[in-house]
Amino acid sequence: MKMAKQVILTGIRANNDLHIGNYMGAMLPMIDMATKRAGEYQVNLFVPDLHSFTTPIDHSKLQEAIMNNLRVFVAAGLPLDNPDVHIYRQSYIPAHSELTIVLDCFTGVGEMGRMTQYKDKIQKNGDDRVSVGLFNYPVLMAADILLYNTSYIPVGDDQTQHLEFARDIALRLNANFNQDLFVVPKSVKKQHAFFGKDQGLRIKDLIDPTKKMSKSDESGRGVIFLNDTPEIARKKITSATTDSLSRVGYNTDQPGISNLLELLALFSSRSLDEVRKEFEGQTQYGPLKEALADSVANFLTDFQTSLAKVDDKVLKSKLETSEKAMNTAANRVLFKVQQAVGLRPRD
Ligand code: TRP
Repeated sequence: MKMAKQVILTGIRANNDLHIGNYMGAMLPMIDMATKRAGEYQVNLFVPDLHSFTTPIDHSKLQEAIMNNLRVFVAAGLPLDNPDVHIYRQSYIPAHSELTIVLDCFTGVGEMGRMTQYKDKIQKNGDDRVSVGLFNYPVLMAADILLYNTSYIPVGDDQTQHLEFARDIALRLNANFNQDLFVVPKSVKKQHAFFGKDQGLRIKDLIDPTKKMSKSDESGRGVIFLNDTPEIARKKITSATTDSLSRVGYNTDQPGISNLLELLALFSSRSLDEVRKEFEGQTQYGPLKEALADSVANFLTDFQTSLAKVDDKVLKSKLETSEKAMNTAANRVLFKVQQAVGLRPRD
């Protein structure tokens, strides 16, 4: 029998503007794989639309946000003509919801209650203002991963706990039913080794460089969005938080400067070593910020030009093909689980 290709998968949420952290951290590693290692792997890039309103959103904007995310995948260079590349919307594949309900019954309330993302929200808002959808978020995410026999998932540090859960629940069901219902995703360590550069996954906020660049930042001043004009991006970089040491260095005492160095490496397609060699020891931060602003401005201009050129007809036709194929694939895994738990007759 022919061995199935290993699956690399990620979901990029659509409830807010995408930023360079999403781009460098999640999208680029996928696109790299899809273009450089096509044929070797299957690449799934999807919009987890059911995850979009686990916290409240403006629903009148969701549909447009979903389509925009898909266009961004294309503008970022995802090769749509590759038959091993699939793009889809989670809610168009009902198996995600169906498997979630089954997995729910093998998941402990305490286990979900210990998830930091959930705990943080509870602490901030109180438990009546946090939805069961948010509580259940990691189970749906596990279903997203397990339905496609996924091995590799590029996600940031904030998602490693969820990834560990996907592994745990896969192992748990496999053991419980004494069969290989699910492919167990690789450990976080192996994920990092596989994707090589995990720097993209650690892009920090420009104002508070101790936290990840994130769309939930209220002011948006520390976040560079993919639809920021080059001028706005330049202003944000100019006012990025640094320190008073007056010496460019890459170390934990200088999180702001270290972040700028990492960003410059990513946006100028150079190694971190090379960038460090050029800037470390300089007594002014201006030139580093200037160099970064130039690279980011170039990147944004190119990216926005590509985004404007995305052909919706081609995109929609690819969506239709992928969603059909993914329904078939996901239903196959779902059916095995339904048989194992006794919802379907065993043949
Ligand atoms: N939770 C991820 C995030 O917020 C998005 C996501 C949903 C995801 N389902 C997934 C990522 C499955 C990887 C695999 O970034």
